Amino acid sequence: MTHNAVGFHRLRVAAVDPLTADSAALTFDVPEALAPVFSFRPGQHLTLRRVVDGVDLRRTYSVCSSAAGGPLRVAVKRLDGGVFSTWVLDGLRPGDQLEVLPPAGRFGPHVDPDRTRSYGLIAAGSGITPVLSIAWSVLDVEPSSTVTLVYGNRTSGDVMFLEELADLKDRFPSRLQVFHVLSREEQESELLSGRIDGPRLTRMFASVLPVDGVDEWYLCGPFGMVTDGRQALLDAGVDPSSVHVELFHADAPPPRVRVVAAGSPDTSTVTVVLHGRATTLPVSKSGDPVLDAVLAVRADAPYACKGGVCGTCRARCVVGAVEMDVNYALEPDELAAGVVLTCQSHPTTDEVRLEFL
Ligand SMILES: Cc1cc2nc3c(=O)[nH]c(=O)nc-3n(C[C@H](O)[C@H](O)[C@H](O)COP(=O)(O)OP(=O)(O)OC[C@H]3O[C@@H](n4cnc5c(N)ncnc54)[C@H](O)[C@@H]3O)c2cc1C
Ligand code: FES
Repeated sequence: MTHNAVGFHRLRVAAVDPLTADSAALTFDVPEALAPVFSFRPGQHLTLRRVVDGVDLRRTYSVCSSAAGGPLRVAVKRLDGGVFSTWVLDGLRPGDQLEVLPPAGRFGPHVDPDRTRSYGLIAAGSGITPVLSIAWSVLDVEPSSTVTLVYGNRTSGDVMFLEELADLKDRFPSRLQVFHVLSREEQESELLSGRIDGPRLTRMFASVLPVDGVDEWYLCGPFGMVTDGRQALLDAGVDPSSVHVELFHADAPPPRVRVVAAGSPDTSTVTVVLHGRATTLPVSKSGDPVLDAVLAVRADAPYACKGGVCGTCRARCVVGAVEMDVNYALEPDELAAGVVLTCQSHPTTDEVRLEFL
């Protein structure tokens, strides 16, 4: 048995419920003492950890239930050749225990019973998970708000949460509208037969889903769908601050050669503050990201994807400056407040101080 990594809690899997042929929902038992730690907002995610043959595997999964009293539940879709998803779908059983980080992430609204808003949700494949939590939470908590969901899949057999969505539609017939878009199955409406892409969304905005009627947009799915969808919304005149996106994966960018200014040392003195303890270490300005150097001396540094998408490695840069390779996780207000992704950061000044969040 391995020890829990700092910040992780060992939770018992209460249920593994198949959703489609290649996806399943995992429900966790949360002991009463941990209930406040694991209370979640719509759209947040959990990082799950498992050590296999000494390799520390961490993957992030979005909570898919209602934040208004729903169980702690995530859904995992099989990725061909994927280490963690294959293990979850083929090997995980009720009663097993997993190490879990408390809910994190800022994708999703602060639901408020006194607010009346119209939400436009666009998801494809497993991207439905945080979007379902948003829809469910809004319908449960904001009695005057409405939700329109555009949900893309290959065939009807691939649709995760088909039953849950049908139940929600039955419970909230006038407040929830769902458009299933299928790419490999003909539907009556040509508009809903194909992939969710920019041109299709633009046609939907001109007919069944006018952008003027929507206050907030939430998009989650493959990189192409999310970036095209966001662009289609901006082209339709939607304010960028109303468009929120969540990515599950982005291909690593090509390696970049970092050139240090002539006369400037290649090494920066970096101090990290983590779990209340400060550690100072040398970090190359032109080498690997700060997080890798930190992990060599502080194994308790938080991370999951190391690809700039999950946001688990966030820290605030309070002295000096760093430059990130990519950022798919931080919102503009976080960037303005000096928050950085340490898995993507390279020091650009001789001294840097990072306070992990
Ligand atoms: C914020 C966030 C929330 C997430 N929520 C969910 C969720 O609710 N449900 C869910 O099923 N997954 C979710 N993911 C994705 C999940 O964390 C894993 O990346 C996914 O399960 C694949 O892990 P794996 O170990 O099976 O594949 P790996 O062994 O890590 O990857 C195998 C190969 O596929 C590539 N790859 C990895 N992930 C993807 C991807 N998503 N799409 C395309 N190629 C990929 C890798 O680069 C690698 O080449 C989320 C990710 C993030 C960052
Ligand atoms: S570890 Fe996921 S963004 Fe850094």
